[in-house]
Amino acid sequence: MDVENPSAITDAAKVVEGKLDGMGLNLLINNAGIYTPTASLETVDAEDMVRTYKTNAVGPMLMAQAFLPLLKKAAQDSKEKGLSCSKAAIINISTILGSIKKTPDSFFRPVISYRCSKAALNMLTMCQALTYKESGILCVALHPGWVKTDMGSQEADLTVDTSVRGLLSVLPILSEKHSGTLLNWEGKAIPW
Ligand SMILES: NC(=O)c1ccc[n+]([C@@H]2O[C@H](COP(=O)([O-])OP(=O)(O)OC[C@H]3O[C@@H](n4cnc5c(N)ncnc54)[C@H](OP(=O)(O)O)[C@@H]3O)[C@@H](O)[C@H]2O)c1
Repeated sequence: MDVENPSAITDAAKVVEGKLDGMGLNLLINNAGIYTPTASLETVDAEDMVRTYKTNAVGPMLMAQAFLPLLKKAAQDSKEKGLSCSKAAIINISTILGSIKKTPDSFFRPVISYRCSKAALNMLTMCQALTYKESGILCVALHPGWVKTDMGSQEADLTVDTSVRGLLSVLPILSEKHSGTLLNWEGKAIPW
């Protein structure tokens, strides 16, 4: 599925609905993302800004809209109190590079289009948390660390295994107090 393509997203939601066969969807993880490593203020252009925003911010928004009925169903069918990933949750994979407060610490890598798109994703997460709370859906942004992937390169700090294990151990501890926040792969809060 291409998260830049709205009809591909609605088609995917229909496929998932069919597979669930009347049940709800507990967990939506928006992981797809793109990154232009060379995008400084001198080199970034409109096309890169729009393309990156479409994938990193608009895609997760459309995904949540399309899967919302299934997430709501999971929350309604759950007997659990409060908010949790085992009830119904939207997890947006974001980055510390989208934190406005933390930007001076890493601005040696400007990556303008990526930062701006992920700051938008962080704002989206807060808006989703405030809107979907009454439907029983937890909404959290997670930073996976600097990870050895195609995006992170082999110079990165963490293996995929370490990052993913960390993220998977954070999911079960998330509750309503975390909804609308940005946390790292160890569960530590990152300021917006
Ligand atoms: N690696 C890091 O150090 C790091 C740090 C902070 C945050 N993150 C975040 O972690 C997430 C995963 O990144 P990664 O490191 O695994 O990056 P990656 O190695 O570049 O992989 C990105 C993934 O996103 C998919 N993707 C890109 N555009 C898409 C689209 N329009 N529709 C559907 N899928 C699309 C790619 O699919 P194809 O292979 O088919 O293109 C690929 O599977 C991203 O949101 C990224 O911003 C990564």
